[in-house]
Amino acid sequence: MAKKTDPIAVFDSGMGGISVLREMVRLMPEEDFIYFGDSKNAPYGTKTLEEVRSLTLSNIKYLLEVHHAKAIAVACNTATSAAVRILRELYPEVPLVGVEPAIKPAVSCMDHPRVLVMATPYTLNGDKFKNLKEVYQEQAVIEPLPCPGLMEFVERGVLYGEDLEYFLHEKMDPFLKDGIDAIVLGCTHYPFVRDTIQRIAGDEVLLFDGSLGTARELRRRIHAAGLENDAEHKGNVTFLNSTGDPGRIRLSLTLFNM
Ligand code: DGL
Repeated sequence: MAKKTDPIAVFDSGMGGISVLREMVRLMPEEDFIYFGDSKNAPYGTKTLEEVRSLTLSNIKYLLEVHHAKAIAVACNTATSAAVRILRELYPEVPLVGVEPAIKPAVSCMDHPRVLVMATPYTLNGDKFKNLKEVYQEQAVIEPLPCPGLMEFVERGVLYGEDLEYFLHEKMDPFLKDGIDAIVLGCTHYPFVRDTIQRIAGDEVLLFDGSLGTARELRRRIHAAGLENDAEHKGNVTFLNSTGDPGRIRLSLTLFNM
């Protein structure tokens, strides 16, 4: 039986989910959080459905059973797409949220915009994205842009510089030359390279990510389950990483405090 003093677990294939964790901590400073990054098995975005699903299920089981998480945030678009439905079936009593590309606010930003959705190949091949694309296809031109290799920059702590710019130009230039109105950062690693993406896209292009929406949804679900911690409690964040490497924890803290 979960207690309101138990922690909230936030999970990602690596460092990316820290972009979502930051919003959650801002919104719920009274909660304790455990952040688990599976950097040992990253990237997830180029793996098969079976691989992503099985890694996600076993990591969530570990967070529930060993760390007694009272709620779960799957702060990874790839893992959400592969496993969130099954997780809800397995743990119907646990407040659980996933993330998905923030296409809805992006398509509503103007009349019939051209929207670039940057995400992992896995996310863009998944049913979740295909359904979203179908729902909004009358309202916008939606261009998927798979970015295998981009999360690795963040995993190495490379958030600026020539190599990153070269990589992004190669990916984005073919779309930018025809004009893009909005970009969806459809992988939780990408907000950490937001400045570079914005510079390459130009100031007039609007950028969207789903972190704040996910944090709000988690707060709603914790409230509905009657599991909010006492308002006067000062929450803690504990970082765990499957590599066991202290360098990963240091990088996690740097990204968290950015
Ligand atoms: N951060 C993850 C996401 O939001 C994926 C990165 C990866 O492991 O490929 O999709």
